[in-house]
Amino acid sequence: MNNQEEKNVNTEIEEDEGDLIEGERQPPFQTPKGVHDILPVDHEYYTFIKKIIRHRCRQAGFRRITTPAFEYTEVFKRNLGEITDVVTKEMYTFLDKKGRSLTLRPEGTAGVVRAFIQHGMSESPQPVALYYIEPFFRYERPQAGRYRQFWQFGFELMGESDAALDAQSILLAYRIFQDLGIADTLKLQLNNIGDLNSREIYAQALKDYFCGKERYLSEEDKIRLKKNPLRILDSKHEDTIILNQSAPIFKDFVSPESVAYHEKVKEYLTDLGLEFIENKNLVRGFDYYNQTVFEFWDEKKQGQNSLGGGGKFDGLVELMGGQPTPAIGFAMGLDRVIAQMKRNKIRVPSKDYLHVFVAQLGQEAKKVCLPLIDQLRENGVKTMGALGKGAIKYQLRIADKFKVPYCVLIGLTEVREGKAIIRDMRVGTQVTVPFDKVVPEIIKRIGKIDLDYYDPKSPV
Ligand code: HAM
Repeated sequence: MNNQEEKNVNTEIEEDEGDLIEGERQPPFQTPKGVHDILPVDHEYYTFIKKIIRHRCRQAGFRRITTPAFEYTEVFKRNLGEITDVVTKEMYTFLDKKGRSLTLRPEGTAGVVRAFIQHGMSESPQPVALYYIEPFFRYERPQAGRYRQFWQFGFELMGESDAALDAQSILLAYRIFQDLGIADTLKLQLNNIGDLNSREIYAQALKDYFCGKERYLSEEDKIRLKKNPLRILDSKHEDTIILNQSAPIFKDFVSPESVAYHEKVKEYLTDLGLEFIENKNLVRGFDYYNQTVFEFWDEKKQGQNSLGGGGKFDGLVELMGGQPTPAIGFAMGLDRVIAQMKRNKIRVPSKDYLHVFVAQLGQEAKKVCLPLIDQLRENGVKTMGALGKGAIKYQLRIADKFKVPYCVLIGLTEVREGKAIIRDMRVGTQVTVPFDKVVPEIIKRIGKIDLDYYDPKSPV
């Protein structure tokens, strides 16, 4: 890893605008606040993570979906909860040239449900199991682990409801954390926030309780009371906090069915050997949830310690104009996953290394090198060539920097004799072979098993 890459990897974003070190000249163009580049060294993590996700999702019958990076604003505004933090404060909303309001997706569930309805997926065999790996956008206060553009892997399972499916979904998330080597660092938090009906009855009870007390409420809390009374419980307003202490308690409104459902989920999780912590305060940030909600936390970590979360959203498809369709889903934050892997010193296998560097001198040699490089690559040998100008010595120095095991050298003499030099860079020895023996000789040395050969026709 070079210094520049090391500096940029998972940049811990500072609170202040710039942290210019005295005397250091900054390039004139920088990433906007709250976003970061994913440099090649981090892509090794992304490639590894995506491979695991694809494998686990395929095993479980999920298929990949990509929805657009932006949707009509209403898709999020109406369906995530009009007074959630994401909708009120964190959406990147803009007008297009025709004055239509669009929003960069802050999360994946609403877009997937929109696609589910738009493409008539309720007619497909149920449950419909979809997953995505995409960037999302939230205008949040940047800090380590919290970005304005971040990556999520998420899945949604629509069309069936059973406590066993909840346990299975949690297990899928867990298995992926396990494959990534960080499951042991996380604790599963579990809660049941009741069914839609008891939530409605509870909401009414809260409204009744606050009726006549409106004058003590802030403007924001008055809106909460009107639009989603449950949100008033998150209020930071002093008077509301005092009033909340005597407000009706949700536990008294949870239906016996929800209690039984929750017990079943816990039983299945226990049978699967999955440990969990019952967390009665876990509510999640969107209004579409009901019944089971869960998150994976690194409890040892301060700050942004949730690596993923999800839950049931049985009312969302209907709310968005589809048939009543039970559903459950989950999303994990990949930027946080990578940081967690690094904190736990988890290294990922990489294929991003070269086998051969082809160095040449003179116009004639270059002409010979071009097809030779192509032949090496066609045979799965990862090859780079210095086709620009430069003395052989200089090219060898570059080859050294790329840490290639072998160099192929072709100068004027070699061209005339129809030969090439193969240099073993690790021991410094070299042999001269005829052109047509270069590829087989290299393959013999690196071994067939290490060739990077891929058949575009093989199944994806
Ligand atoms: P969420 O809890 O908002 O859920 O996000 C899921 C994960 O995305 C978080 O646990 C966190 O790891 C990561 N994340 C969220 N915001 C940021 C950020 N600003 N910077 C870095 N990482 C972040 C959802 O988005 C739901 N749509 C999940 C779901 C799917 N529920 C049902 N289906």
